[in-house]
Amino acid sequence: MTEKRQDPKTTLVLCGTGKTGRRVAHRLTARGLRVRIGSRSGEPPFDWQDQATWEPAVRNVTSAYLVYYPDLGAPGAAAAVRSFAELAVDSGVRRLVLLSGRGEEGVLPAEQAVRECGADWTILRSSWFSQNFSEDFLLEPVQSGEIALPAGNVAEPFVDAEDAADVAVEALTEDRHLGQVYELTGPWLLTFADAAAEIAAAAEREVKYRSVPPEQFASMLVEHGVPAENAAFLTELFGKVLDGRNAHLTDGVQRALGRQPRDFTDYARVAAASGVWAGDSDRSGQAARASQGG
Ligand SMILES: NC(=O)c1ccc[n+]([C@@H]2O[C@H](COP(=O)([O-])OP(=O)(O)OC[C@H]3O[C@@H](n4cnc5c(N)ncnc54)[C@H](OP(=O)(O)O)[C@@H]3O)[C@@H](O)[C@H]2O)c1
Repeated sequence: MTEKRQDPKTTLVLCGTGKTGRRVAHRLTARGLRVRIGSRSGEPPFDWQDQATWEPAVRNVTSAYLVYYPDLGAPGAAAAVRSFAELAVDSGVRRLVLLSGRGEEGVLPAEQAVRECGADWTILRSSWFSQNFSEDFLLEPVQSGEIALPAGNVAEPFVDAEDAADVAVEALTEDRHLGQVYELTGPWLLTFADAAAEIAAAAEREVKYRSVPPEQFASMLVEHGVPAENAAFLTELFGKVLDGRNAHLTDGVQRALGRQPRDFTDYARVAAASGVWAGDSDRSGQAARASQGG
């Protein structure tokens, strides 16, 4: 990404190498807009765990795509987001687009911090990204042929990270999204067994879903090296957001973009064509990625 320090329209994209961030950065750059990647591998580096890295990252920036890592509902997230948003506004940032989670009470204090910081804001409350199966902690389970989660038969309206990125870019560049909260879902409800079947069909390989009790899921994570505290947080989080509260569709993508969201079958077809599900690998990768917050 190119960057000119004095350009008044640089956008900071936090988690700019992640599932939505890299898509947002790519879209903004394609429009000829200046982008600075805010992540530990960015230049300058940005680390949520190291406040000294924040000021250089927001210098000469006018808008930011605010993505917290590992999870906006994680302990300490709201305080960090509040401090970051205040610093950003003091540095001249005028617009913040926050990536949030759908149905998570734990994210509300961080959302409130963004609403109160003095910048224009838009909040995207997203469902589970389909790309968790191909770019994140569910990739290795898919490759191994079994996805084990404490999700029972609950349905989730998986949303394509491409759609979330489209909405984020609209919100960063168009004034009509200011002050809006968009709940982002895909166009269908799928159980994890349905999602596994879609992936199996697209990848032409066996992929099964197995529902495991929360305690067993937590033990699996710990057995695979996830610190007990993170395993407990993730298990509690999954238990909350996968209890059926999100098992309905919303019109957030339609409202923001004026079109239907992409569907899971198309996502699976594109991901399968990329070859990402062709390999087999050690299942400990699921735990390793989950330990980073998934
Ligand atoms: N995953 C979902 O389905 C989902 C759904 C709804 C909402 N969300 C929300 O989305 C946010 C991001 O989660 P995600 O799962 O989508 O992950 P992601 O954006 O794919 O996360 C990876 C990104 O985080 C960066 N990163 C890792 N540790 C960092 C740190 N200490 N400081 C700064 N950047 C760091 C990585 O870059 P470097 O390695 O270069 O640092 C990379 O750019 C969370 O707040 C979550 O609540 C996720």
